Amino acid sequence: MAKNNLLPASITDNLETRFIGRKVIYYPRLTSTMDIARRKVRQGVAEGTVIMADEQTAGRGRTKRLWLSPRGSIALSIIFYPTMASLPYLVMLASLAAVRSIALVTGLEAQIKWPNDVLIDGKKVCGILIESGVQGNRVAYAIIGIGINVNFRLADFPEILPMATSLSDELGKEVSRADIIRCLLVEIERLYLTLPDGKAIYQAWRDKLVTLGKKVRVTSGETILEGIAESVDKNGNLLLRQADGSITEIIAGDVTLPNGK
Ligand code: BTN
Repeated sequence: MAKNNLLPASITDNLETRFIGRKVIYYPRLTSTMDIARRKVRQGVAEGTVIMADEQTAGRGRTKRLWLSPRGSIALSIIFYPTMASLPYLVMLASLAAVRSIALVTGLEAQIKWPNDVLIDGKKVCGILIESGVQGNRVAYAIIGIGINVNFRLADFPEILPMATSLSDELGKEVSRADIIRCLLVEIERLYLTLPDGKAIYQAWRDKLVTLGKKVRVTSGETILEGIAESVDKNGNLLLRQADGSITEIIAGDVTLPNGK
């Protein structure tokens, strides 16, 4: 399978955004785009700067998991300097933008598993990681990291084969990573510019969640809870109804759906 390098010009040329992707910093191979993004924040880069790589050797996922991003994946981080009021919506807008970009470029319909796993037919195709620095009541920075399985065969990665898929596996042909990234940046900016009023983002994200109304198991740190995923609040927290009727608000965790995914 051909895995051409991602040239920055293929992203920036005629990109219809105001500030996201005005500067794209590209590495053929690096540890994690999140590491470089943090370094760039310390150097004071502009909001909307994108760090992208063809391959990560130490990609990271939520809850300190490793994120596999071989050549053929999308691995990028975008730097923001949001307000505190906008911060909870970044998770929602990033997953929504991923779903919409996948649909626009490939026609595939993806869903969101709370909080921000993007799935196709129950299998993960995209993961999102938000890292932020908060000083007192001020957000110093936020980095949205997005990894999408685009052009590689999951059969070559047996460790994630049961729970993951890639766009090329779904379609039976390769997909232009540049097209997806361009769409993603346009969509993220469009949604970001609606903040701090996150009502429409919240509603659209909630409507895409496959999790709601289902019996789920939630692992949050050392705690495992079971119940019905009743709703999500405006901060993105999951409201879990347990067998005794009580509602528990879950801020961060991993959800397993009834099909085990
Ligand atoms: C998850 O589902 O656990 C989140 C995965 C996030 C992966 C992306 S790839 C680009 C960026 N760099 C990283 O090291 N992680 C994020």
